[in-house]
Amino acid sequence: MPKVTLRRAGFDTVLDAAEGTSVMQVATANGVHEILAVCGGEMACATCHVYVEDGPLDALPPIGDEEEDMLGFVAAPRESNSRLSCQLLMTSATDGLVVRVAPRQE
Ligand code: FES
Repeated sequence: MPKVTLRRAGFDTVLDAAEGTSVMQVATANGVHEILAVCGGEMACATCHVYVEDGPLDALPPIGDEEEDMLGFVAAPRESNSRLSCQLLMTSATDGLVVRVAPRQE
């Protein structure tokens, strides 16, 4: 089962992810309350903002037009590695992904 590391305020949490679930779904299912995910993954809220820090970066999908638009509404500063966690699917190819949760989501 692929693993994803969520980095928050100086500590890391390594979580198992069912194949095909998003980083947002893994986070919310495991009580990571910093990921608000108000829209439930419909790419309409930008409250699931993370910074991709390490892991198989080449296996991630490129930012699409809709995600690009929503990244314009994130509450914390956008950085070059900003992504919406609802758009990052966990598979064997993305096993080992490390993301830092944005300090503010709204
Ligand atoms: S959960 Fe709303 S944009 Fe990701």
